[in-house]
Amino acid sequence: MKKTGFIFDLDGVIVDTAKYHYLAWRKLANELGFEFTQEQNEQFKGVSRKRCLEILLEIGDIKASQEQFNKWLVEKNEDYLSLIEKMDESEILPDVLKVLQFLKNHSMPIALGSASKNARPILEKVKLMDYFDVIVDGTHVAKAKPDPEVFLIAAKQLGVPPEDCVVFEDAVAGIEAANNAGMLSIGIGEEKVLSEAKFVFTNFTEMDDNFLNRLLE
Ligand code: BG6
Ligand code: MG
Repeated sequence: MKKTGFIFDLDGVIVDTAKYHYLAWRKLANELGFEFTQEQNEQFKGVSRKRCLEILLEIGDIKASQEQFNKWLVEKNEDYLSLIEKMDESEILPDVLKVLQFLKNHSMPIALGSASKNARPILEKVKLMDYFDVIVDGTHVAKAKPDPEVFLIAAKQLGVPPEDCVVFEDAVAGIEAANNAGMLSIGIGEEKVLSEAKFVFTNFTEMDDNFLNRLLE
């Protein structure tokens, strides 16, 4: 497939931070007097912090002033940060290192393409910074996934045309963004959820060298 640029989403692909996002949102929902389920949390994957709060308030049927809205955004992030404070390399998802190392061994450029504004500190905590040639995160983008902006910026910074890039994503919005960017989308998760992806793997342990070699040939 002759792919020459590789872009990874962070949350749910490299580390399982979705569970911490969920706990922080659920705490806020409970404080506001309603339940927030794991199923509802699916809609939050790949979506910006601000958009997540909008959806949460819709679920709880709660109206907020701009000031209150901003206060809850800060509160949720502070709770999230305290949950990830002690995160370390042990939280890297299975065989992520195998794939990153395979790409490094083949001198392939690697980028991060994440909606999170906490991406850098997380990569530092799990000691993966050195694998990434380019980091594009929630602090760099104006338009959220499924808009392709985050991946197009990453491709540009890698110096690789979008059609030669591969994107690894766990979110429906992220797969859509990769497809919108004209890139090869690889879903990490459930096939029935990520049906728009070109290929889907439950996790990286299912992705063997044979498949990785095919991406490069
Ligand atoms: C995405 C997550 O990677 O980042 C979303 O999938 C999250 O659930 C978004 O809302 C923004 O993250 P942060 O760390 O900036 O609040
Ligand atoms: Mg994700």
